[in-house]
Parts: sequence; structure tokens; C-alpha cells
Amino acid sequence: MKIAFLASEAIPYVKTGGLADVVGTLPHYLTRLGLEMSLFLPLYLDVKKKNLALTPVAEIKASWQGKEVICPLWEDKSSEFRVFFLQHDAYYSREGVYGTSAGDHPDNADRFAFYSLFSLLAMKTLNFKPDIIHAHDWQAALSLAYLRYLFKKDPFFEGTKSLFTIHNLAYQGLFPPEVIGRINLPPDVFHWQEMEFYGQVNFLKAGLVYADAISTVSPTYSREIQQPEFGFGLDGVLRERSKVLFGILNGIDISSWDPETDPCLPYHFHRQDLSGKKKCKAELLRLFNFPSESLSRPLAGMVSRLADQKGFDLLVASLDELFSLGLRLVILGQGDKKYQDLLLKLQEEKRDFLGVKIAFDESLARLIIAGSDLFLIPSRFEPCGLTQMYSLRYGTIPVVRAVGGLEDTIEEFDPVTLKGNGFKFKEYSVASLIGAIKRAMAIYEQPALWSRLIQNAMAADFSWERAAREYAELYQRIIISE
Ligand code: ADP
Ligand code: GLC
Repeated sequence: MKIAFLASEAIPYVKTGGLADVVGTLPHYLTRLGLEMSLFLPLYLDVKKKNLALTPVAEIKASWQGKEVICPLWEDKSSEFRVFFLQHDAYYSREGVYGTSAGDHPDNADRFAFYSLFSLLAMKTLNFKPDIIHAHDWQAALSLAYLRYLFKKDPFFEGTKSLFTIHNLAYQGLFPPEVIGRINLPPDVFHWQEMEFYGQVNFLKAGLVYADAISTVSPTYSREIQQPEFGFGLDGVLRERSKVLFGILNGIDISSWDPETDPCLPYHFHRQDLSGKKKCKAELLRLFNFPSESLSRPLAGMVSRLADQKGFDLLVASLDELFSLGLRLVILGQGDKKYQDLLLKLQEEKRDFLGVKIAFDESLARLIIAGSDLFLIPSRFEPCGLTQMYSLRYGTIPVVRAVGGLEDTIEEFDPVTLKGNGFKFKEYSVASLIGAIKRAMAIYEQPALWSRLIQNAMAADFSWERAAREYAELYQRIIISE
């Protein structure tokens, strides 16, 4: 079975969030199941800066916006599965994958329409005839519009089916209607049953209406997005397609995220010997200049995009009370300027309790996940969430809001039955968040229970094997469907 993966980011090449972890990891596991995988990515400046030994494999010649364009295609031959990069410097050779601190790139519609179309052309040029085109999120969604409209009668794509995966319904790629005239699609697509959305063009909606099947990254999120509260205006479309909408929980790469071997950690540890974890905590406290007596106090960590999704308004409103209870908190994040400024200001005021670093820093992210006692994820919504799973693997106890994948992966610890791996709260309120953290801190004060909880956390198995099998089965089902 041949699968073409289309997504705008993938580790180890380019990453802004969890999409990159998933897209860079899942194809390895599908390859091991015997599937022939190829991944198509834009050749961003961030990728060029890595100085990888890429091999030129072909050139795509096609017309785009009235001009003949030559798009060189590069391959990373060192990858276990096939990874191709599309070069178009005018669109991709610049700072910022989607934008800069000044905002989104103004030509994102053109950038990702081009990427989607030229990925299909690349498949033809390479003679890689996919059984399934598996497109992820709005940036790749237009590939399915092109498949439907431009390549409908093309024998090369005869029999090719499609799967669209929603990693986050909040980002839809909304653009003014004029865009349609620039991206090689017929005006018919601007229709309420296709890509029109309250007077705008909605790229993500192309994925929802044209794909043979749709998946999202946790079972709970697959149900939530069919409700107005979590549907971002698309719940009706999703309800209509509910028969072909599936929820497959993400996995994590347990060989990369392993506290015994993680090269980013100054000290290693495992379930039977957690002394290295304590040393990581000491190192983390030192890095953030906390007073030395903090070592015996509970330390919470957060590693997150700074976006409304992630619940920072709730967190900020809870801080005074949490600090009065003796909690210390370190936050690594990047994103929305309003949160960056607010967190830095709070850090000035609460130096003994709060450490903040505004950056994208893989090593520090791993040290925080390893060295903290608690990991906070008070999200408004969370399609899956990966950091709670990374935390469990590093013996760090998640405190999460019971939504999406957080609901599916975290079970409240019960001090009587000794079952559970974390703490969770339902209502999006300061009182509920504080309540869950208080429950966690109460267990922290009881070393025998806390050890048991850490053991439960570290025993959880979220490896990709299960999810990869579920995707393979879904591909099969799509192929045999009418
Ligand atoms: P989302 O995709 O919504 O951002 P996930 O939990 O699925 O949330 O994935 C986030 C990924 O990005 C994780 O691998 C996390 O460690 C990483 N990450 C987020 N912010 C940062 C940061 N500032 N520095 C380093 N890694 C980060
Ligand atoms: C999105 C979601 C996150 C999910 C990730 C990978 O960015 O916000 O919850 O884990 O995609 O699927």
C-alpha cells in the first residue's frame, strides 16, 4: 500500500508544535508495518539552515499564477521512508514557517495552495502513485480540492483515495474570496457545501468535504468537534460526515522520549531509580535561579505554545493562590505576544516562585518535562496533546483539563484504589484548576502515595504501534469503500 503524507511540518526538519512530532514519527511505524510511505514538505529556510545532504531528484514544471514555474524537488535519502522537499524560494525561503511576531505571512493562501498542488505534481513526476493521499491540517487540505477538480480525469490518480486528519480545528486557513481566482480552482468551490465559510474561503473545509474519510487525533476530540462548543463553526459539516469521521489517539516516540537515554538530560533515570530525576529538578531550579530550599517543594512545569487554546488566562488568574500554597512554576513557551509580555512581567514580580523563558528550546523543554514534579495543561480544548504523554514517561504528573486527548490519556489518581496517572478537572474555572493542583499537592506530601503515582505514570504505554495499526486498518477500509 502506497501512502503520500502531506503536512506543513515534520521532525527532524521543522517544528512549531505537535503536528511535527506526529508527521515525523508515524510514517516510521507505518513503514515497519510494510506500507510504502512518502512525505512531502516545503523547503523552508529553517530546513535549508540545517545543511542536510539533500539530493536533487527532479524538477516540476507547471504554470502558476500566469507564469511558468520550475520547482526543484529534493530528497533526504538518509530517511527510513521517502521524504521530499519542494523548493520555491519566493514562498518558503524566509524567516517563520507560518509568520513572524508581526503576524501571519500575508501570502499564506498562495504558499500552501502552491505546496498542495505541487505535491500532487511531484507524485506524478516521481511516478509515485499513491493508494491514499493523507493530508494533515489546513495547509495541506487543498490537495484534496485539486484531486477532485484538476486531476479528476487523470489516469495517474485513478483509484487514489484520501484521508484528511484534523490536528486542530481552530486553525482553518481563512482567506478572502478573491483568493479562489489565484489558485487554479474553479469558482464552483466557493459554495456553502464546499469551501465557502461565512463569506470567506476556508481551506480546512476542503479537507472536510472532499476527503473520502476524516480522522482526528483522539476519540474524545472526534466527538467534541461535532458539538457547537468545540466545532469552530464547522460542527454541522462534521456531523454530516460523522459516518466517515474517526478518532485515533496519537502515540509518542518512546525511543526519542526516554529518560534513560535522552541526550538533552544532564542526568538519566528509570522507574527503579529516580535519583537522576531529582538531580534534573535541582538543575532546573538552578537554571531559573530559584532559592535552594525549593528542592523539597513541589515544582510544576509547562512547555507550550502561548495561545488562547492552552489556558494561560486561567493559569495567570490562579497564580497568587498557587504560590501561597508553596508551588513553584517554570514555563517555557513562545507565541502570542500578549502572553509573552504578561508572563515576563509576572516573573519580575514573583521571582522566587515563577521562572519564564520565552523561546523554542528543545533541550530545555525536555529538562522541564524531566525535572518537574507536576506538568500543567489547563487547555480550553486539546485535540490530543503530546506533552502529557511525554511527562508520564518522565515520571512527571500531569494536571490537565478533561478535554480531547487529555481526557483520553489521563485518569484521576485515586489514593484508595491506587489507580490513575494524574489529576484532571472539568470546568474551565480558576477554582477547578486550583482544586486539581491542591489534590496533586496533597498526594505529593505523602511520599508512599507519590511514589506509587509516579510508578503508575511511568508504566503507561502510549507508543505508536497501536495507532499505526489503526491508521493502516483505516487506509484499508478507505481503499475498499465505494
Ligand atoms: P500543540 O501541537 O497544540 O502545540 P502538543 O502537546 O501536541 O501541542 O505538542 C507540542 C509539542 O511542541 C511538544 O513536542 C512540545 O514539547 C513542543 N513545544 C511546545 N512549545 C515548545 C517550546 N517553547 N520549546 C520547545 N518545544 C516546545
Ligand atoms: C495539534 C493539537 C494538539 C495535538 C497535535 C498533534 O497541534 O493542538 O493537541 O497533539 O496537533 O496531533
